[in-house]
Amino acid sequence: MTPDPLLAFRGEFPILERCTYLVSNSLGAMPRSVPDRLAEYVDLWAERGVRAWADAWWKMPLGVGDEIAPLIGARAGEVAMMPNVSNAQATVLSALDYSAPRDTIVMTELDFPSVRYVYDHLAPRLGARVVVVKSDDGIGIDADRLCAAIDERTRLVAISHVLFRSAFIVDVAKVAAHARRMGALVSLDAFHSVGVIPVDVRAIGADFLTGGVLKWLCGGPGGSFLWASPEMSERHAPTLTGWLAHARPFAFEPEMDYATGAARWLGGTPGIPALYAASEGPRIVRKAGIEAIRAKSVRQTSRLMELAAARGYRVSAPAAVERRGGTVAFDVPHGAEVSQELLARDVVIDYRPGAGIRVAPHFYTTDAEVDRVVGEVDEILRTGAWERHRNTARVVT
Ligand SMILES: Cc1ncc(COP(=O)(O)O)c(C=O)c1O
Repeated sequence: MTPDPLLAFRGEFPILERCTYLVSNSLGAMPRSVPDRLAEYVDLWAERGVRAWADAWWKMPLGVGDEIAPLIGARAGEVAMMPNVSNAQATVLSALDYSAPRDTIVMTELDFPSVRYVYDHLAPRLGARVVVVKSDDGIGIDADRLCAAIDERTRLVAISHVLFRSAFIVDVAKVAAHARRMGALVSLDAFHSVGVIPVDVRAIGADFLTGGVLKWLCGGPGGSFLWASPEMSERHAPTLTGWLAHARPFAFEPEMDYATGAARWLGGTPGIPALYAASEGPRIVRKAGIEAIRAKSVRQTSRLMELAAARGYRVSAPAAVERRGGTVAFDVPHGAEVSQELLARDVVIDYRPGAGIRVAPHFYTTDAEVDRVVGEVDEILRTGAWERHRNTARVVT
């Protein structure tokens, strides 16, 4: 066996010494350098007080965005940090005009609920209707069916790049090419792609892309991002806005005059502590190399699927590697209880009713850890160790 060079990064993540960490689809492992970065924030605040803004803090929403940019094929100055993806997508939604005949937004039934809530509830107030494309199997979304829903009435296609429930990779390049032919714009929710599969906004042909650092980018909560193409930043500005989107925020002018570039997508005062933590993970991911991360992810998810299939478990991850993201869910008997027992044994996974045990290896995962999770499930079922969680098993997040 050739040694796995990505395992050299294990030392960057202290939690890997203490448990089998297979839940980077929910919260990526914390880089060892984060406490120092947070201490830097605290020290600056303590010692410099309000001058910390000018020293460092005002620059951070775009400075941290520059750390993300290479991971999505964007250029420096094109990515703005946002508080969360729901807010970032709402910001995109607020920027467009929905007067007839361009009054339609196309989404899918497998987009993340939080993003759907934003569109379902805000879009009608802006004069738009939302058309939701169905899935045949609850796992994937057929790109042709999605294309068929995009027509001359479509203003925006707001869809996930990788579906959160099944890790299905939507053929977004095909959808974006069709959207362009129809004169529609595309806003991608790339939460489950950036950091685990290569993403190139220009190759895809997206107009907007949002994501967050807390999962595959190991950047912690509170660091989400919005990329808008330079053309979008020139032609559109959000109505969901704030003073940092102003060209001269410190002039405190009563009338809005939007900044150019990514800054115009910002809102009010940013959550600075989160931004200190946010860039550490992306830096390591860039160093590890996204192509190598993807190749390893394909190998380890294939291994998991083989092990689960050999035991007859129902697997809800795409069989085709080109459609499969980083997570494999498989349904075992007494899944909720088995998950509790796995957690008790320091095998950190999560569980979703209907999908089963979700396992998300990342670049720092060993092959032995992949084998371990399935081996532990075997043992838990064989010995009946799951039974002690019979009345206490809950859905874990
Ligand atoms: C695909 C996808 N979009 C959006 C979100 C939620 O975004 P936020 O909480 O940053 O609004 C998640 C969270 O898991 C997600 O998986």
